[in-house]
This record gives sequence, C-alpha cells and structure tokens, in this order.
Amino acid sequence: MKENGYDYSVVRGFAFSAIFWLIVGLLVGLWLAAEMILPQLNLTPWLSFGRLRVVHTNGLAFGFALAGIFSCTYYILQRLTKVPLAFPRLARFHLWLFNIAIALAALSLFAGMNTSKEYAELEWPLDVGIVIMWVIFAINVFGTLIKRKEKQMYISLWYIIAMTVTIAVLYIVNNLEVPVNLFKSYSIYAGANDANVEWWYGHNAVGFVFTVPILAMFYYFLPKSTNLPIYSHRLSIIAFWSLVFGYLWTGAHHLMLTPLPEWIQTVAIAFSIFLIAPSWGSVVNGYYTMRGNWDQMRTNYLVKFFIFGITFYGLQTVQGPTQGLRTLTAFFHYTDYIPGHVHMGTMGWVTMIISASFYYMMPRITGKELYSIKLANLHFWLILVGQLLFTVTLWIAGIQQGAMWKATNPDGSLTYSFLEGVVALYPYWKIRLIGGLIYFVGIVVFTYNLIMTARGAGVKLAETRAQTA
Ligand code: HEM
Ligand code: HEM
Repeated sequence: MKENGYDYSVVRGFAFSAIFWLIVGLLVGLWLAAEMILPQLNLTPWLSFGRLRVVHTNGLAFGFALAGIFSCTYYILQRLTKVPLAFPRLARFHLWLFNIAIALAALSLFAGMNTSKEYAELEWPLDVGIVIMWVIFAINVFGTLIKRKEKQMYISLWYIIAMTVTIAVLYIVNNLEVPVNLFKSYSIYAGANDANVEWWYGHNAVGFVFTVPILAMFYYFLPKSTNLPIYSHRLSIIAFWSLVFGYLWTGAHHLMLTPLPEWIQTVAIAFSIFLIAPSWGSVVNGYYTMRGNWDQMRTNYLVKFFIFGITFYGLQTVQGPTQGLRTLTAFFHYTDYIPGHVHMGTMGWVTMIISASFYYMMPRITGKELYSIKLANLHFWLILVGQLLFTVTLWIAGIQQGAMWKATNPDGSLTYSFLEGVVALYPYWKIRLIGGLIYFVGIVVFTYNLIMTARGAGVKLAETRAQTA
C-alpha cells in the first residue's frame, strides 16, 4: 500500500522474511535442545550439534532479528522523516540480497564451513556480500535522512543511525582475513589480539543488533500504540549517548580470567556496571510513559508485549553486568546460566518487541485488519510461559553445574566427575525442551495471525485501531 508515496512493500517483505527465518531457526533450536537429551539425534555430520548450533545462532540473530530490524527501520524511517525512501528500488534489491545471503550462510554452516569466530562464522565471500548489502542499506538510511521534511530528529532515528554506522565498523574490522581459497580464510589477528577484537565485535553484535535497534522500535511503537507521548525526551537522549559510548568498551567481559591484559578486563567490568544506568534510563522512561494509564495492560493487547519486553531487557541488563564480575564469572562462565541469560534477552525482549511492532505495522502497511486479537493474546502468553520455563530452568541448572564443578573433598580432589555434572543436568534440559516447544507453538500462532491478516481475513481496521489507540 502506498500512502504519501511511502513504500511499504519492502517493509512487508522483510517482515515475512523475519517470520520465515524465525521458524527455521527455532526448528533447529528445538533439534539442538533435543540432541542434548538424545545424543543419537546427531544422525549425520550435517545434523551434528556443532554445525546446527551455528545455523541456529546465525539464523535467529541475523536471519530473524536483522530482517525484523530492516522491516521496522524502513517503516520508522519513512514515518519519522515524512518522506518516502530515497531509493526504493535499492531497498528491494537489499531484500533479495539479504535472503540470498542468509540462505547461503545457512547452507555453508550446515556444510561445516566455519571461521570458528563466534557470530562471525561466515567465510570471506559471504562477508563481502554482507558488507555490500549493508552499504546498500546505509545509502537508503542516510539518503532518506538527508531528504527529510521533519527537522526534529526523534530518538528512534538516533538509534537507527548508531546501528547503521557501528555494525559496519564492527563487521569489517573483525572480519579482516586472509583468504586461502574460496572456502577458507584466516583472521589477520593472532592469539590474545584475535580474541580481544572478536569479543569487541561479539559483544557489540549483541549491543547493536539485540539492543540498539530494538530500543528504536520500543521508543517509536510504544507511544504510537498507546497514544501517549514518551515520558522524557531528554532522558532518552542522555540514555542513548551513554549507552552507545559505554557499550564499545565492554567486550572483554567475555574474556575474564584469560591471558588478556588485566587492565583491559578491568575496564570492561567498569563499563559493564556503568551500562546499568543508560539501560535502566530506557526501562524507566518506558514505565513512566505508562503512568496513570496502566489499565492499558488489560485493554490494549500491544502494551503487554512492550512492557514485559522492556522488563526482560531491564533484568538482562542487571544480570549481564553482575555475571561479568570476576568472582561471579569464575563461577558462571561455561555453565548453562549463560544460555539462560541469552534466551531471556532473545525470547523475551527481542521477540516481544519485534512481535508487537509487526502487529502494529501489519494492518497499516497491508490496509487489512488484524486477523485476531485473541490469537495475539494467546501468542503473548505462550511465548511468555515458554521463555520463563526455558530461562529460569537454565539459571538454576547453571548454579548447580557451577557448584558441582567447584565442589572439592577435604583432600582437595574434585567431588564430582565432569560426566556426573552432565548427567545431573538432564532433567533441566528436558524442561528447556518443553519450554522451547511452548514458545514455538506461540510463534506458530503469531505466524498464522500475520498470514491471515495479510490475506485480509481480519476484523474491521477501525476496530483494531480502537483497541490499540
Ligand atoms: C548491560 C547489558 C549487558 C551486559 C553488561 C551483559 C554481559 C554479559 C556477559 C558478561 C556475558 C558473558 C558471560 C560468559 O560467557 O561468562 C554475556 C553473554 C551474552 N549476552 Fe549479555 N549482557 C548484557 C545485556 C544483554 C542483552 C540485552 C542481550 C540480548 C539478548 C544479551 C545477550 C548476550 C549473549 C547472546 C551472550 C552470549 C555470548 C556468547 O556466545 O558467549 N546480553 N553478557
Ligand atoms: C524454541 C526456542 C529456542 C530453543 C529450543 C533454543 C535452543 C538453543 C540451544 C539448545 C542452544 C545451545 C546452548 C548450549 O550450547 O548449551 C542455543 C543457543 C543460542 N540461541 Fe537459542 N533457542 C531458542 C530460541 C532462540 C531465539 C529466539 C534466539 C534469538 C533470537 C536464540 C539465540 C541463541 C543464541 C545467541 C545462542 C548462543 C548462546 C551462547 O553462546 O551462550 N535462541 N539455543
């Protein structure tokens, strides 16, 4: 649908790409969770845990989350600048290139091609394709911003700019490599330097994919869905600059108690603790936006997604800095406590905000009414229960695992063998699989609701708007 010349076809294209990669990534995640209980499911090398794990992480972080981010960015950009995209044809090319790159990425990872750097596993030809894709995206972002009719730069645009610039720098610096042939390359960095650059990138992939653009969505879609102005623009700007400044120093908290120079580790700890302030700046801004209007948690189905989403973000951003402290990292590193942390962020914060943003956009970009608010509520409760079952179980598992690894007898020998530690985790892994299945059913409901909406099978648009405004 075109309104004021706005181009929504690419918004829609990316939204459905996100849903597609979400389903693929989750099916792989469920298989992985099942392999932890039934190792015989490692049927072929293509289905081995090591290969599937990277298909899962890349499929969801870069297939699902990035497609969701591109979709919402193209929507927010046009609405906030009050001009259509500067280069709509380039945006459509971006959509094709993106899906081809993710499909080839999945295929190459299944086939076992892997640089062995986490979240940067893709071999160099794909890296080149991804950099070209990102430049195309950046040209549209800055081209549209330059043409803008609205002088005021709302906070979401600042978050979009930060993501666009920072991801380009991180990706290029960390992926500098020497090709050996078409399928193999070696990093130009070595030893501790390589690890340091890798986690500077790795942590900021979390920061500038799972945090910054998701905050852009939160700041745009929460006021839009509730008809309430954001509580404080000043707070949002202060939180923005301190978050962006702070994030870039924290990567080494993934490398505590390693040969990395100690001062680098200490800087990372200090900035990680510092990050609680800007993170909670946004959490508090969200809560205060709702002041006097908390009844919307009952009456407006979208608000639940936004408020629970930002609450999980708030919990993550206290858990993250504390688990980076030397004493706690010595206990928790390598345990299931960390995947517990990861999945509250991804299945709670990231998925809830992207889901609500899609629900808000879909009727407006297709001109078709939302198919079912009841199903949207069902989706919410299923992903909430599934996520909590998954993450809280892994926290408890992580505490038990850490305690078993550290337990010693009076003579100093270890109380438990490593294998005893593995066997003790089976009950937790079963619960994780059940939590994942419940969450997956929620995502199937979400997908069905969006497909039916796009097909025009929904209630009147006016009714939907009344319930979200
Ligand atoms: C103030 C904010 C945060 C801080 C300081 C922080 C800190 C940490 C630390 C210290 C670890 C490493 C634990 C270890 O390996 O021992 C970690 C892992 C991780 N965190 Fe956070 N976290 C924060 C917020 C988030 C958010 C919002 C997400 C969103 C999903 C997230 C996703 C991840 C992921 C994916 C990993 C796993 C990285 C890996 O593969 O090893 N974190 N975080
Ligand atoms: C049905 C839901 C899901 C299931 C069953 C699932 C399962 C898993 C499993 C079994 C692992 C490996 C953990 C390990 O090595 O010990 C994992 C890791 C990971 N998953 Fe998921 N996952 C799900 C949803 C998601 C979502 C929605 C995202 C992102 C949007 C995500 C991102 C990740 C990441 C980043 C890691 C790496 C964590 C780390 O290195 O610590 N997962 N997942």
